[in-house]
Amino acid sequence: MSQETAFDTRAFRRALGNFATGVTVVTATSPDGVRAGVTANSFNSVSLDPPLVLWSLDKRSSSLEIFQQASHFAVNVLAADQIDLSNQFARPSDDKFEGILIEQGIGSTPLLKDCAARFVCEMHEQVEGGDHVIVIGKVVAFEDCGRSPLLYHQGVYSMVLPHTSMTQKVESRPASSVFQGRLAHNIYYLLTQAVRGYQADYQPKQLSTGLRTSEARMLMVLENDAALSLADLQREVAMPMREIEEAVANLKRKGLVTDSGERYVLTSSGRDQAESLWRIAREQQDKVFAAFSEEQLDSFKHALKTIIALH
Ligand SMILES: Cc1cc2nc3c(=O)[nH]c(=O)nc-3n(C[C@H](O)[C@H](O)[C@H](O)COP(=O)(O)O)c2cc1C
Repeated sequence: MSQETAFDTRAFRRALGNFATGVTVVTATSPDGVRAGVTANSFNSVSLDPPLVLWSLDKRSSSLEIFQQASHFAVNVLAADQIDLSNQFARPSDDKFEGILIEQGIGSTPLLKDCAARFVCEMHEQVEGGDHVIVIGKVVAFEDCGRSPLLYHQGVYSMVLPHTSMTQKVESRPASSVFQGRLAHNIYYLLTQAVRGYQADYQPKQLSTGLRTSEARMLMVLENDAALSLADLQREVAMPMREIEEAVANLKRKGLVTDSGERYVLTSSGRDQAESLWRIAREQQDKVFAAFSEEQLDSFKHALKTIIALH
């Protein structure tokens, strides 16, 4: 490990981003009734008996005082379809709760609806942690809704794709059990395994361009539109604003993107780079679907689009 890497905060944060996490919104109400909510992926379990959890809060947060004074806090574990909530609570604002339906938990903790899980905690201990405060809570109530969670990895929102240990091709695997036989006919299983295989082959090719996934995603989105604002970009790519800003800054430094006032456009080398990213995507698609006829491909696309439109 180079010394430089050890002390470059941005590189350090980026390296930490390889540790995939869930996303939570931690909320509390101060003794005088002011609510706070902060998007946090530093949440983790500490102890089962007593039931303790922790998260860490940036000392620069405008919500710091409220969390330090509050008797309780709630950890709302976000579900896969709650990216907007994550973004709303990651932005400093006078009223982060505007337009959001909440319920009230023990200690007046604001509870968000439709989460994957919720933990209401009594403040247990606050520990110094460099530029963060480590907040430890004793869980006094919890709810396990089991909804599919929102994940966060390398600055990009993600979703859970089940990983099975079955590495053989479905076709060549003998139907040794009723379970395996049924699995071979389960379309959800087939879809997830197909996506997993496709991704494992495709991602290294995209990374070989020297761009991070977040940067590549941004170039591919910009390719289609003449000029996008930061807000447009946030609608198009599933990333928090600070990551979008960082990716845009990197792309500007590399001379691939330029801004015309409030809007971002590709430079001519940016257009070339976006073109080569789309070419990689196209080649992967052609390779994977080489054995299919045009007609088969059309009906496959039709089936996928129909399923997507159901939601
Ligand atoms: C995915 C994600 C995870 C975050 N995790 C944390 C965290 O663990 N601790 C923290 O202090 N800030 C974290 N932040 C940043 C805060 O959400 C953000 O700085 C804060 O909400 C700004 O508002 P404030 O001034 O009320 O603190 C995270 C942001 C995102 C998008």
